[in-house]
Amino acid sequence: MNEWGNAALRLEDYQDLHRASIAEPERFWLQEAARIDWSQAPTRGLDFSRPPFARWFPDGMTNLCANAVDRWAARRPEDPALIAVSTETDTERTYSFAELLAQTTAWAAAFRSLGVGVGDRVLIYMPMIAEAVFAMLACARIGAVHTVVFGGFASGALAARIDDAAPKVIVAADAGSRMGRIIPYKPLLDEALGMADHRPHKVLMVDRGLAPIHWAHHDIDARALVEANRHVEVAPVDLPSSHPSYILYTSGTTGKPKGVQRDTGGYAVALAASMEHIFFGQPGGVFFATSDIGWVVGHSYIVYGPLIAGMATILYEGAPTRPDPGVFWRLVERHRVRAMFTAPTALRLLKKEDPRHLTGYDRSSLKALFVAGEPLDEPTSRWIADSLGVPILDNYWQTETGWPILTLCRGLTDAPVKPGSPGLPVYGFDVQLVDEASGEPVPAGDKGVVAIAAPLPPGCLTTIWNDDARFVRTYFQSIPGKMLYSTFDWGVQDEEGYTFILGRTDDVINVAGHRLGTREIEEAVTTHPAVADAAVVGVHDEIKGQTPVAFVVLKDASRAGEALSQEIIQAVAREIGALAKPSSVNFVPALPKTRSGKVLRRALQAIWEGRDPGDLTTIDDETALKAVLALRRAAAKD
Ligand code: PRX
Repeated sequence: MNEWGNAALRLEDYQDLHRASIAEPERFWLQEAARIDWSQAPTRGLDFSRPPFARWFPDGMTNLCANAVDRWAARRPEDPALIAVSTETDTERTYSFAELLAQTTAWAAAFRSLGVGVGDRVLIYMPMIAEAVFAMLACARIGAVHTVVFGGFASGALAARIDDAAPKVIVAADAGSRMGRIIPYKPLLDEALGMADHRPHKVLMVDRGLAPIHWAHHDIDARALVEANRHVEVAPVDLPSSHPSYILYTSGTTGKPKGVQRDTGGYAVALAASMEHIFFGQPGGVFFATSDIGWVVGHSYIVYGPLIAGMATILYEGAPTRPDPGVFWRLVERHRVRAMFTAPTALRLLKKEDPRHLTGYDRSSLKALFVAGEPLDEPTSRWIADSLGVPILDNYWQTETGWPILTLCRGLTDAPVKPGSPGLPVYGFDVQLVDEASGEPVPAGDKGVVAIAAPLPPGCLTTIWNDDARFVRTYFQSIPGKMLYSTFDWGVQDEEGYTFILGRTDDVINVAGHRLGTREIEEAVTTHPAVADAAVVGVHDEIKGQTPVAFVVLKDASRAGEALSQEIIQAVAREIGALAKPSSVNFVPALPKTRSGKVLRRALQAIWEGRDPGDLTTIDDETALKAVLALRRAAAKD
């Protein structure tokens, strides 16, 4: 349709294309905008009159649900759209586009019957079941703003999100299931509602029959309400391109999570383009992303991206290794999966298993495997490339950007994969590696902060929910003097422009591809009444990439011991969720801090990983550091 052409792309051509996307973003993106259906086609690409706020396709009107569901239901109603598989409940059901449209419309009518309208928030706290997708798409249909909270989060984290998003309605289920273990959600939700100040109007409960529900006065049986609304017509609402489609919370430096806000039209166009140029999209094909709807990969590449591209998407509730480590490849075989997307942690888990789990299946439909969320280490990358025999495409991005910043776009047949690097800047992203203090570009081979020159392309966050000032301050003012978006990642670029990601510049850690703020975990640790002070760092872990380790100063040091350590770990599980549990709690007499009181997390991390902690001249109290060193030596002996 434009200069991309259909033939395989040569590196030089791609680089020209990338340059054009940066030099003339409006022209570039208006062309890409033709990939989606608009009720009013945009005549303008971008309104950047109030930098760094970018409004893409400012006079366009569209609807995400219409693009994901209606337009395919009209053309190919019987084609599969949503394949909901659960190896936890041993169920599988395929919904065609026509069925997905019917379900989504009924959910939209159910929301309307509760008074949910354009701009109202709906919080979705759900396991990986089809109803979660119906609810998301139904929100998009009526212009309500969904905020999905990962089912692995516990009551404290949920309460903070309820208060920030102030949802009119909450949708939840009785329970999720993990590795065969039922995890009741309702008690966690009730506890969160007890902690939150905000009161939702109603709570819609999907009863899967996994755990008993204690019905409260505001609870409604979701399935009954949806049934009652079964044949009510609800047309997709025409929305301005910049209408918020959703809020997705993510961790940062402070304990308070940030509500990443996304638009409608820009997001739809960015996803449609990425499915074509990056993810081997093809109408009628099957896409399988193993993430969770609670994370950004789930939003972009389980729900919206594949459906917008007219593909069937697999919604998988289950683990990579249960009932056996062949489960992913069995799904590839059964559903003729065209492209798959997973996290390095899952691959590291599978690598430990018998290779026959991989070779025993017909994987001939698979064109590529995409990985993201955390660094892909070389041995894992080699292993999976050799085992699968298809391109393994690492892609680097963030909740904030919604789609890849760095990768090797489809068709870059003459650009070699370099292990350890996701690749080159993606069209639309003006990636610059800059000096942290001056904002000046660093030469190739030098470490710099990975930054993106404004305007951010379509699909990226438009602001932080309810907090424009925080959006500007956090992302655009951390690098002085320039209008640069900071990713808060360190990187290094080689002479050919490949970027290698070296880790975060802030206190965010990455546990099994899950982004967590150490501040949040520290706050959870200090909810335990025995704790006076705490520091949490992420340390290297063979499988998960990183794991949290806590250093705790007690009010009464004589209480130190295994029992208390367990209580503290449980406090974290209760506040945030099991995914944030420290792998160890270490009691110390004091925390190593600078004179200004800043905890030297990096020194703690270095010592724990057996590395040189570097320059410690800023440290105020050496005894604290010595105590950590002694602990480390003791732990190493165990
Ligand atoms: O540190 C980078 C790491 O994960 C962070 C973003 O996490 P999240 O907001 O959860 O979004 C994940 C979207 C895939 C980044 O700031 N990260 C993400 N992808 C990669 C990565 N680190 C190395 N290589 C990657 N491919």
